[in-house]
Amino acid sequence: MFNGLEGGLEEVLRRIMETASLNDLQEVKARYLGKQGLVTSLMKNIKEIPPEKRKEYGREVNELKNSIEEAIDNRKNELEELGRLAREGAERPDFTVPGKRRDIGSYHLITQVMEEVQDIWVSMGFEVTTGPEIETSYYNFEALNTPEWHPARDMHDTFYTCDGQLLRTHTSPVQIRVMESRKPPLAIFSPGTCYRKDTPDTTHLPMFHQFEVLLVDRGTSVSHLKGTLNHFAKRLFGADRRIRLRPSFFPFTEPSFEVDVSCGICGGQGCRSCRGSGWLEILGAGMVHPNVFRNVGYDPEIWSGFALGTGLERIAMLKYDLEDIRDLLRNDRRFLKGYRRAII
Ligand code: DAH
Repeated sequence: MFNGLEGGLEEVLRRIMETASLNDLQEVKARYLGKQGLVTSLMKNIKEIPPEKRKEYGREVNELKNSIEEAIDNRKNELEELGRLAREGAERPDFTVPGKRRDIGSYHLITQVMEEVQDIWVSMGFEVTTGPEIETSYYNFEALNTPEWHPARDMHDTFYTCDGQLLRTHTSPVQIRVMESRKPPLAIFSPGTCYRKDTPDTTHLPMFHQFEVLLVDRGTSVSHLKGTLNHFAKRLFGADRRIRLRPSFFPFTEPSFEVDVSCGICGGQGCRSCRGSGWLEILGAGMVHPNVFRNVGYDPEIWSGFALGTGLERIAMLKYDLEDIRDLLRNDRRFLKGYRRAII
């Protein structure tokens, strides 16, 4: 046994294992392997050993040194690993930190208005139907009593496909498609996208949206149309609003009307918003023309009905006081957020 190594190698290894930190370990290492350390002084002692035993002595000291170095290395790895685990434990997520805000989408104002309008008609018993956006001239015009020479076509210039079809200029062709495929009576509501060769300005877009309403039954009269419209306008704009019918012309209705709602700002007195008239135009309507019934094989002596249609953008602008229809397409998030309704 070497001097100063009373407990033997086991004792040294135990002390190494008991170190609790890398600092502790460093101290133990200095004590045994440092310049003033035990192993170093044992090496120096070799001079005092009788020459014939020096070789044996040197080998034993070296073995001792290697064992201690290995134990220290192992313990160092262990301590480092323990430290790493402790740090990770301390880095557990803190659930009290405020979360990152995520932008959520919302329905476009036109979609919102469309759903609002649709709810009103559906609640009155009208059924939702749709038709194609690429139409034939027949459904868009002729079947609606608008022959090619008719001046009413001027306002409905549109885009044509190479095979002679066109992008529908209004939702009215859905009337024809539904009547062709069904027997009366019927009551439909039909929303959708429409197109016209218009230059965008504050009130026009070449692509816009309309909804169409058609009711066919026996004994339908203008009073049915008026009563239904009155209900619709009050539901959409408010119970204090009134409507009025002005005589107008559409090829597919007779008589035809332009329908106004009383101005919500001045209550009908006349103000800047309604350009002094007290009224705002909201839609076109009328009693279905007998020729339209004939075109779909309905007998106009038996069946009568009313129809109406208008632009959803126009309704949105009136309801939400918008100044420029183009704002609906600019994708300015400040505008869109102003009319945001949460998606449920
Ligand atoms: N289709 C017409 C347009 O786009 C609007 C319209 C007027 C539809 C009268 C109707 C109606 O159903 O009866 O200008």
